Amino acid sequence: MGDPKLPPGKHNVMFPLELRGVSFAPGERPVVADLNLRLEASTRTVLLGPNGAGKSVTMRLMHGLLKPSAGEITWGGKTTHPAAQAMVFQRPVLLRRSALANIEYALSLAGIAQGERRTRANAALERVGLGHVAQRPARVLSGGEQQRVALARAWSLLPRILFLDEPTASLDPAASREVERIVAEIAASGTKIVMITHHLGQARRLADDIVFVHDGRITEHSPADEFFRQPRSREADDYLKGELP
Ligand SMILES: Nc1ncnc2c1ncn2[C@@H]1O[C@H](COP(=O)(O)OP(=O)(O)OP(=O)(O)O)[C@@H](O)[C@H]1O
Ligand SMILES: [Mg+2]
Repeated sequence: MGDPKLPPGKHNVMFPLELRGVSFAPGERPVVADLNLRLEASTRTVLLGPNGAGKSVTMRLMHGLLKPSAGEITWGGKTTHPAAQAMVFQRPVLLRRSALANIEYALSLAGIAQGERRTRANAALERVGLGHVAQRPARVLSGGEQQRVALARAWSLLPRILFLDEPTASLDPAASREVERIVAEIAASGTKIVMITHHLGQARRLADDIVFVHDGRITEHSPADEFFRQPRSREADDYLKGELP
């Protein structure tokens, strides 16, 4: 992974990622309904909205972890979910083995040849500033370090899109900023970012565009500067002012 930059245009066929009339209704009442959204390859998209609004469900639908009850999700006009995607959660899910072995394992699952795995895994750890903990059991690392290992693992796969569901929610401010720096670098290397956060400062720093989710609906998709200057919906305005429950 000397230069992780993707060849220009190679994966652009995956985009835009579009949701048309997407609903998810595991019971009688849908938890998200009539989602319509078009995400382009190049932006860093942040999903905002109050607890229980449906952000994580929306992200899981995009990723393909959940199947829509209605509507359609397309990638570059096709309904097949591409393999070149990765996801990082609030709490990193790491195996009981070294940091390096965690990444090598993910690479083996992705079908990367054995001879290439170690180099790529080491390079990924270096990129997140964790070259020195490569041999340490992943589960004894600090929360911030574990999250960086999870990011390194995702990055090593050179995903065309990376979904992040509150990746800094359990981290202290310094560790959060480090994660932000890494996310920005992953974006700069050519990976589309879709991130959920409740940290408005973080959203301001990272987002190019904001998707606001409220009560199972997307109420707004705007450029980040517009959203923070003047959100279009009352709900988003209240959320920014901290007035929604
Ligand atoms: N698989 C599921 N089956 C049934 N209900 C679900 C399922 N997944 C989520 N829900 C419900 O859908 C609603 C939205 O959940 P979701 O996790 O998407 O919210 P969120 O916006 O991510 O909130 P938070 O900010 O608290 O993480 C919640 O009421 C949740 O209980
Ligand atoms: Mg959530």
